[in-house]
Amino acid sequence: MAITKTIRPGLIQMRVTNLEESVAFYRDVLGLDVVGKTSDGRVMFKTFDEFDHHSVVLRAAPESGFDYVAFKVTDAETLEELKAATEAFGYPVDIASDEQPGYGKRYGFTLCTGHRIELYAEVDMAENIPMLLNPDPWIDPPRGMKAQRFDHLLLYGPNIGEAVRYFTEVLGMFYPEYCNTPDGKPFAYWLTGGNKAHDIAFVEYEKPNTIHHHAFYLEDWNAIGHAADLIGKHRVKRDVGPTRHAITRGQTIYFFEPSGNRIETYAGGYAAYPDNPKRQWTVDEIGRGLFYYEGELIPSFLEVVT
Ligand SMILES: [Fe+2]
Repeated sequence: MAITKTIRPGLIQMRVTNLEESVAFYRDVLGLDVVGKTSDGRVMFKTFDEFDHHSVVLRAAPESGFDYVAFKVTDAETLEELKAATEAFGYPVDIASDEQPGYGKRYGFTLCTGHRIELYAEVDMAENIPMLLNPDPWIDPPRGMKAQRFDHLLLYGPNIGEAVRYFTEVLGMFYPEYCNTPDGKPFAYWLTGGNKAHDIAFVEYEKPNTIHHHAFYLEDWNAIGHAADLIGKHRVKRDVGPTRHAITRGQTIYFFEPSGNRIETYAGGYAAYPDNPKRQWTVDEIGRGLFYYEGELIPSFLEVVT
């Protein structure tokens, strides 16, 4: 197994049916900065607190949904090792052909769940990065919901047991928390490559290549309340929250951006260590695990994916 010191989700590309309205939403409500446009009209964003050239890309398309997520790995040598390990695992690997300005070579493959996953080792620094010398918390006051970083995503698809095996055995990530069905089949897994409670999560679902949400990190519970105020003010379609997850222990609110993709703003969460024992959920308690205050599942939460 390759030794990976860095493995983190650094880039997500989403499809949106209404590019103009979605761009305005990410910029003015979430508070991301527009970095620029690719030559084919996709729009790049970063948060005020990120260093990479950009972390989120929106592409105009007839249907909203997920294009791919790309994980940054330690270095170029590790990238080649992980390419070989991915092929040995059974997934054919290609070199991404679409332009992502500032990004070095990206390898990609289709996971058993139907999602495209990419790996890369090099990305340019953005023009506007957080201060490095005697740093203030920010250069200009954060705007909108004050999203600090692209934090994690939850993907729905079939055969997540194999996906978890790929992420743990090949990429060296681990799962602090999981839920199996009574007969022992994987139902929901939360995976991380660092100290965060989760970088990516999977839920078993018949239809491949669907996304439940992507999430941005906010500073604290007050920031989640502020996000809820903006949801009211801008008449955003809210899904669930503000509430707390028992799973990962984060504080959260879910809502839909104008093209219908679900977004979460998330704060808190425990620190995860690979040598800690794993937390387990049973299916009959998973509603309480997801929505600790409500104590039960909210139907739209499971039924609406893009
Ligand atoms: Fe989440």
